[in-house]
Amino acid sequence: MNGFRVGEDDFELDGRPVRLLSGALHYFRVHEAQWGHRLAMLRAMGLNCVETYVPWNLHEPHPGTYRDVEALGRFLDAVRGAGLWAIVRPGPYICAEWENGGLPHWLTGAVGSRARTRDEEYLGHVERWFRRLLPQIVSRQHGRAGDGAGRGGAGGGGMDGGSTGGGGGTGGGPVIMVQVENEYGSYGSDQVYLRHLADLLRAEGVTVPLFTSDGPEDHMLTGGSVPGVLATANFGSGARAGFAALRRHRPSGPLMCMEFWCGWFDHWGAEHVARDAGDAAEALREILACGASVNLYMAHGGTNFAGWAGANRGGGSLHDGELQPDVTSYDYDAPIDESGRVTPKFWAFRDVLAPYASGPLPQPPAPLPSLGAPASAALTDWCSLETVLDALGTPESEHAVPPTFEDLDVDRGLVRYAVTVPGPREPYPLSVRGLRDRAVVYVDGERAGVLTEGTPTLVAPVAGHARVELWVESLGRVNYGPRTGEPKGITGGILHERQYLHGVRARGLRLDAFDVPSAVRALPRAGSGEGRPGLYRGTVEVGSPGDARIELPGWTRGFLWVNGFNLGRYWSVGPQTSLYVPGPVLRDGANEVWVLELEEGGERVELA
Ligand code: GLA
Repeated sequence: MNGFRVGEDDFELDGRPVRLLSGALHYFRVHEAQWGHRLAMLRAMGLNCVETYVPWNLHEPHPGTYRDVEALGRFLDAVRGAGLWAIVRPGPYICAEWENGGLPHWLTGAVGSRARTRDEEYLGHVERWFRRLLPQIVSRQHGRAGDGAGRGGAGGGGMDGGSTGGGGGTGGGPVIMVQVENEYGSYGSDQVYLRHLADLLRAEGVTVPLFTSDGPEDHMLTGGSVPGVLATANFGSGARAGFAALRRHRPSGPLMCMEFWCGWFDHWGAEHVARDAGDAAEALREILACGASVNLYMAHGGTNFAGWAGANRGGGSLHDGELQPDVTSYDYDAPIDESGRVTPKFWAFRDVLAPYASGPLPQPPAPLPSLGAPASAALTDWCSLETVLDALGTPESEHAVPPTFEDLDVDRGLVRYAVTVPGPREPYPLSVRGLRDRAVVYVDGERAGVLTEGTPTLVAPVAGHARVELWVESLGRVNYGPRTGEPKGITGGILHERQYLHGVRARGLRLDAFDVPSAVRALPRAGSGEGRPGLYRGTVEVGSPGDARIELPGWTRGFLWVNGFNLGRYWSVGPQTSLYVPGPVLRDGANEVWVLELEEGGERVELA
């Protein structure tokens, strides 16, 4: 039988059993010019497959406005060229430490807790999006007629040397499986919704096997699986126990750990998380000893460029506690690090994977070039945040109560709220209810402090009459748990003593306003900022471009662009202290640097 299918005991390719040795690599977290290099690294580690999510919010910034949906297709073509299979996880929800778990802000703002259910309004948007997205996948599926020259020896799942590329080179593509939703059992129990999504994928032309993936616990597997659709399990260790749980629900079918968490991610202001290579390699060995297939999460994590990092909520198993925003790096302590280099974990995994390949593994490709010599940029041109907001922000609007970011159509970025404290009146505490996430507050033009959800009251009471400005920043929308999709901004109200202050003027600044370099270059120069918030600009001379890291000594928190490419958020609280600059972003000669500082700036940035 031709094609890839889910057999009684194994995955089967053209009737022969195969084992999937897959690794996660998200095309949207790696500079496109580096995809080929990273895919070759995956092969050299001993993998025969790559897995990627698709982030809906990246590709549909406004309802019905699409941005580079074709990137997925180009990536899948690169996968095929690298001689790998592909597993695609199109969501619509993806979790993934990605802003809002991939759901657009305009959608969760409108449907709230009806997201990820059978709700008609929600499903209407999903259907429209899938009709736009799925052709990228459908046209690149494996298993067309005559497409029998796949790779992988019987029982081995090894590779064929890659000369024919993904799908065998006779008209098929690399895509062998497509996921329905993501860990739905960690969130809800709407079986009507899951069934509907599976049917939608089929109706739109997905013919390769579908699957779900969930934590190996009974409630997750019962909430997240769909009758007749392959169920897989996600875990970081304890394969025997994990698969035993899966077998309680699925007595037959191939076993697969769809997310083997071989590392983990970091939160701003918390300790860096690492996982020992030997320990991870042992856990991988146990998975393979169970006869199972595996997807390393992550094989190569990459970077949350452009402020797309998501956030968690602490508070134990309820995930209802304090906000824990994710850092910019998605290195993940993965076997291939953020800059695409091998790590001890790479070699340890390669040793475990090599016996399962059909032939000798290729050597890893040479690392891509590094920056030739350290360089430094003095950022002497400054203009105030106010000026930036005037030029690049949304028009000011007046509201009875503070609008949320969602109301103002701001995904990533900030909103300036302005309100008047009537007077005369004595000084009273000024506080914000439902603040997400962080406000720098000015009273009559003087900086009065920083408020957060957990510290919502200004230290010094405020007397009326006064003009209060609150510059509120989103630190990333929650991507996991019951608070996924919650709105940003001032979601409760602004209080003086216990009196709500009404009549709020608001103005938003979306980060994608900086995607138009001419608009940023046209901003006036107002001298040197001397540390004040605002946009700092300068250039850095580079002799021999290549991969680099950029450090921001003395800067506090904001975003950094090089040649118009948004490298992501920096924040002095750590643990991340420098930002990764992909070599292809840099040019020989002068390179333009912009830093949007939201608290207190420094003078220069250093590249090394
Ligand atoms: C879950 C999700 C992934 C990711 C990991 C943690 O398994 O499915 O998207 O969030 O957790 O990295």
